[in-house]
Amino acid sequence: MNMMTRAFGSMAFAAVAALTASAVQAEEFRLGLITPPPHIWTKAAEAFGAELAEASDGAHSVTVFPARQLGNEAEMLQQLQTGALDMAFMTVAEVSNRAPDFGAFYAPFLAQDIEHAGRILRSDTARGMLEQLPAEVGVVGVAYGMAGLRQIVARGEVNSADDLAGLKLRITPFDPILDFYNAIGAAPTPMPLPAVYDALANGQVDAIDMDAELIWVLKYFEQADTVVQSNHMMFPMVGLVSGRVWAQMSDEDRKLIGDLMAKHVDSTIDSYVEKEQGWLDQVRGAGTNYVEVDQAFFGDAVAEWNAIWAEKSSKLDALRQVADDTAE
Ligand code: BEZ
Repeated sequence: MNMMTRAFGSMAFAAVAALTASAVQAEEFRLGLITPPPHIWTKAAEAFGAELAEASDGAHSVTVFPARQLGNEAEMLQQLQTGALDMAFMTVAEVSNRAPDFGAFYAPFLAQDIEHAGRILRSDTARGMLEQLPAEVGVVGVAYGMAGLRQIVARGEVNSADDLAGLKLRITPFDPILDFYNAIGAAPTPMPLPAVYDALANGQVDAIDMDAELIWVLKYFEQADTVVQSNHMMFPMVGLVSGRVWAQMSDEDRKLIGDLMAKHVDSTIDSYVEKEQGWLDQVRGAGTNYVEVDQAFFGDAVAEWNAIWAEKSSKLDALRQVADDTAE
């Protein structure tokens, strides 16, 4: 091989190596979530994908699979663990089934209102809790988002917590909310989001635990007689990347993807702060029997929940301290 041939050969090798490197770095990510296409979380996931494609000059793309197309949250969490799924915007409720410390976010009346919930989720203490996710759950948590505070929609009249006793009341499938409604004396019925409308409409459940956005947008209130605005719990979400997929990313991609995903996940907090009251006003204005209650309505159930979760989560006191420090 003469000098010329050797030089050309090594240039060709370099070009192939460069092409291979950029092909390896370019990724088509799959992101799953259970919320329907018009939901704020789904819109935020799509906005994240669009911004990532632009910031990476088209090298990265994100295909969003809403409405449980890839399975329920427990199944998606398993897929994240094996690397079969790259990313998810997931309820902290599901994460708390694997990492019980996260159950502390659901302390009844931890947040005074939706703005306060946002401050708690943006605290250093809350962020620090994400550090346990790679080791305990096999996922990387980039930031918190949220949905609105929780309310109750019931098919009959509800004027006191006694009226909830024995009711088949739909809950998101996770322990903190189960413990809360058990303490009230209801019959909590775990049911994933997509099954809720039909279950309420056909009387399979008597009541549901839900947030203002979905009560208004999915018109759950039209299938019921009473809306109880209780604001009894916050409902955090977390942006997750598979630990296996994260381990294979370059430092540069981790920074780009982590920062952009965090930005769009966090933006959901601002969306709920802005829109929550409007949804509640519209539900109230629709002529539904609308009852506003506070912590006293739930009697001893809150203290009972606190006693149970003081044992189950080591972060309850720390989050209470944050709540105190950020209250207005
Ligand atoms: C729910 O299970 O009620 C729920 C899940 C995700 C977003 C909002 C609500």
